Amino acid sequence: MKVISLSRSVTDSNDRDAEKLRQALKAKGVTLVNLMSSPGSGKTTLLSRIIKDIGHRVNIGVMEADIASDVDAKAIEKLGAKSIQAHTGGMCHMDAGMTRAAFDAAGFDGGIVFLENVGNLICPAEFDTGAHVNVMVLSVSEGDDKPLKYPLMFQKSDALVISKTDAINYFDFDIGKARERALKLNPGLKIFPVSAKTGEGMAALENWLLQKSRNGEESMTHEDCIKLAIDALDNSYSPYSNFRVGACLVTPEGEVFTGANFENASFGATICAERCAVSNAIAHGKRSFSKIYISCDSGYAWPCGVCRQVLNEFRAGDMEVWVGSKDSPWQMKTLSELLPNGFGPGIGG
Ligand code: THU
Repeated sequence: MKVISLSRSVTDSNDRDAEKLRQALKAKGVTLVNLMSSPGSGKTTLLSRIIKDIGHRVNIGVMEADIASDVDAKAIEKLGAKSIQAHTGGMCHMDAGMTRAAFDAAGFDGGIVFLENVGNLICPAEFDTGAHVNVMVLSVSEGDDKPLKYPLMFQKSDALVISKTDAINYFDFDIGKARERALKLNPGLKIFPVSAKTGEGMAALENWLLQKSRNGEESMTHEDCIKLAIDALDNSYSPYSNFRVGACLVTPEGEVFTGANFENASFGATICAERCAVSNAIAHGKRSFSKIYISCDSGYAWPCGVCRQVLNEFRAGDMEVWVGSKDSPWQMKTLSELLPNGFGPGIGG
């Protein structure tokens, strides 16, 4: 395994260097993902899981930046991914010049290259590394007040990964509060609650990364969407019917939004999985959907009448409605088949 010692770049025009590096990497087919967090947030465990889950679908390289030691790079290399250990010589962040030096020394192929930045929530946010995507990792053990204390980090990130959700019951961490505080600082922030240990939530994060690595040109595959709809079943709150439904809604650009049904003691207040997914997407500013995948535990759950009407409001052309489950082959009908002569935008009102 390679180890490289870095020193502060000679040039003080970091932003310009970063932009140059970004373009050079893009031309090489590399998507650079800058991972930032405090020490102990679970970055290396997260990366290990990502490599295991999608390493067969995309080349993955890892640059481990640390003040000293090579424990993280060794762990990554064991999984078969190319990695380099970059020693920052006591500096608490990576800049564009240092990132370029580490990248050049590593000899990565194209694909996704993760830069595991030095662990702290302050300096890494202040220096553009040349990354295409900035991702912050916050573990549930750190507290949901971090957006209040380290606003810049949340503002500079494209995505927030809330890690170690399997341990959430041991800590006083409120995902809703963390989400609200983070979105106040950065309304476009993507938020992925995950457990690298159990795999919960990983599919959504991995698919987002894959999408970024394809420059958004290629949309998610049919199989990806089916998996997301099935994974979404785990978020169902259905104590009254015990009938779990998961949905994965797809925009024409290939972005996906998942949802699950959530019931209410006052039964009429129940929200179906499809409308949950629509609300999720609407909250992210989306208004147009081309496909939806709907899963239940066994057999088929075609959308109810209310959901058909809601989907009709936001369909991009004639929406494909896919329905299936783990044990039932997936079937498709268009929304106009499911809602003939539907009432929609442009009619009435
Ligand atoms: N359900 C959905 O999530 N989607 C539909 O289109 C039909 C029904 C949910 C609502 C309720 O929680 C459970 O299935 C049983 O009706």
